[in-house]
Amino acid sequence: MSHTAYDHELEEAWEDDLKRRYPETDYDPNGKEKDSFRNYDEPGRDTVREFYRINHEGQTLALVQEKKAQFAPGKHGTMTIWEAMEYLDTLVDDSDPDTDLSQIQHLMQTAEGIRKDGHPDWFILTGLIHDLGKVLCLYGEPQWAVVGDTFPVGCAFSDKIVYPEFFSANPDTQRPELSTPCGIYEEGTGLDNVHLSWGHDEYLYQVVKDHMPEESLYMIRYHSFYAGHREKAYDQLMNDHDRKMFRWVEAFNPYDLYTKSDAPPNVAELRPYYEELIGKYFPDPIAW
Ligand SMILES: [Fe+2]
Ligand SMILES: [Fe+2]
Repeated sequence: MSHTAYDHELEEAWEDDLKRRYPETDYDPNGKEKDSFRNYDEPGRDTVREFYRINHEGQTLALVQEKKAQFAPGKHGTMTIWEAMEYLDTLVDDSDPDTDLSQIQHLMQTAEGIRKDGHPDWFILTGLIHDLGKVLCLYGEPQWAVVGDTFPVGCAFSDKIVYPEFFSANPDTQRPELSTPCGIYEEGTGLDNVHLSWGHDEYLYQVVKDHMPEESLYMIRYHSFYAGHREKAYDQLMNDHDRKMFRWVEAFNPYDLYTKSDAPPNVAELRPYYEELIGKYFPDPIAW
């Protein structure tokens, strides 16, 4: 695989910002380590601000509809899950390879955290695959259309979304029909009927939706929807089934955010276990 340039620094800054916004202490019932992720540098903050300025301006209803058509599964060939993991791992950080986890390490570390807590195998597998939609970067997509918090489009942007002030530059805010709490949607319609901003969550959901249980699909599809699963915004678009399923999204989130402090996993050693687990749910290469 070719060595693809990728702004890993931005991804790191975004993740640091997430941990600043949602420190682990909010999640840990035993109140163990409180400050491990609070140290984040101010320069990273500007990077994140600039990222969200571009993201919030560009994520319109029309953009999302266009990307869904452009990246419908099958347009980028077939790969097994393991092949996708290795492909994603070609996203490397040229500036500082020693301090960052590789993509495979992050996936495996998330999965191992879930496994250690005794969760079902599909939950473990969800940890292993949840970021594979980031292969969008390898298709040449800009990072503002791959990573970052996601949020509904086609209705008013909530001020619970990070950096809400940047939505003033989003053309959809000039369209009154898209600027009410429900916008183009019926109240309580259910999130399956709602377009979220485009990125790795929705893309992977489309790729794996016939293979994983529904709880897993919620985790995959909504793991970056912090305004929803952490801030409880957009309740007007959710139905009771979404509310029930969001317990799984909430259960997944700490493994994604807070397992990075653990020792890096031994990928080679763990590979046979994970290959077998992949084979249980994904018997063949799938369409990407
Ligand atoms: Fe993610
Ligand atoms: Fe992740």
